[in-house]
Amino acid sequence: MKTLLFKSDIERGGLWLDAFADQAPDLKVEVWPYEGDPAAIDYALVWAPPAGELKGYPNLKVIFSVGAGIDHLKKDPELPALPVVRMVEPGLTAGMSEYVVWAVLHHHRFLLDYAAQQREGRWEEINQIAARRRRVGILGLGHLGQDAAEKLAVFGFQLSGWSRSEKDVPGVRCHHGEKGLNDFLAETEILVALLPWTPETDGILNAETLGQLPKGAAVINAGRGGLQIEEDLLAALDSGQLSGATLDVFREEPLPADSRFYNHPRVVVTPHIASMTIPETAVAAVLEQIRRFEAGEALQHTVDFERGY
Ligand code: NAP
Ligand code: GLV
Repeated sequence: MKTLLFKSDIERGGLWLDAFADQAPDLKVEVWPYEGDPAAIDYALVWAPPAGELKGYPNLKVIFSVGAGIDHLKKDPELPALPVVRMVEPGLTAGMSEYVVWAVLHHHRFLLDYAAQQREGRWEEINQIAARRRRVGILGLGHLGQDAAEKLAVFGFQLSGWSRSEKDVPGVRCHHGEKGLNDFLAETEILVALLPWTPETDGILNAETLGQLPKGAAVINAGRGGLQIEEDLLAALDSGQLSGATLDVFREEPLPADSRFYNHPRVVVTPHIASMTIPETAVAAVLEQIRRFEAGEALQHTVDFERGY
């Protein structure tokens, strides 16, 4: 019998254990902190283990990330040189697309302005723009970006996207690489950031790039806080270069109570909840990778540490 060590910081540990018991009664699941024999652990499914923790399991074969992002694992300088599988599962993907559709519609339909009018007891129409005339751009055309594009396409938005490698996504004007970024920015009125945080993407939402968006553009960041230079975002909001921002992620989380983002009239803040891994579907995804590994098949969704994601 194989053993999986489970550590999550999310308060839903019981749901994971139930899902493992239902779907893999033959897999032994140990919950961190684990005091048994470290040599008994074959797999680890973790969110943010303390640095140095994972090197203590001599028979560990594969590390699974509870999340799609793996920057929490990159912080461990002693992370063993084992395959790391990111979380790619339909529940997480669906949740992100819900968030993106909600946030895009929020900006597209001027809800920040209507909320302000409501506070002030004003009743004024703002001219509606047809979705087919609204240009929405997605930074990051990976699992989450492509699904969000598919869901946004239902409304008829003009969609574009940007990735590292060249892509051909139906219904999306695809740009890639450093050279493609300028064109992407120039045509993006509502920008959705769904990039991983890597040395290349660090601070990509900065004064220069925000300045290349059409005046009055809106920014949605559901990737990682490290993508944004927060003072530059605030300056662009204050100057009117940006008409609004919906921010789920921040450089410092929890966002400190005195952050200007909380009270800025053109900002919606959510506490890193754009999407959550859903235990039932995530356990199925992990078990499929364990099955592949044990059958000698290639693992999917592994992290390339050279690329950083
Ligand atoms: P993914 O499938 O690996 O996709 C990442 C995308 O970003 C790919 O299209 C990739 O390009 C592109 N990219 C990476 N580095 C780039 C660069 N330097 N220049 C241009 N494009 C670059 O990842 P995913 O599953 O979609 O997840 C994306 C991120 O969402 C995660 O890393 C995580 O940080 C974030 N996330 C946030 C939440 C939340 O609740 N806020 C939840 C889940 C995930 P290629 O296609 O060419 O590789
Ligand atoms: C959440 O932020 C994730 O990376 O899954």
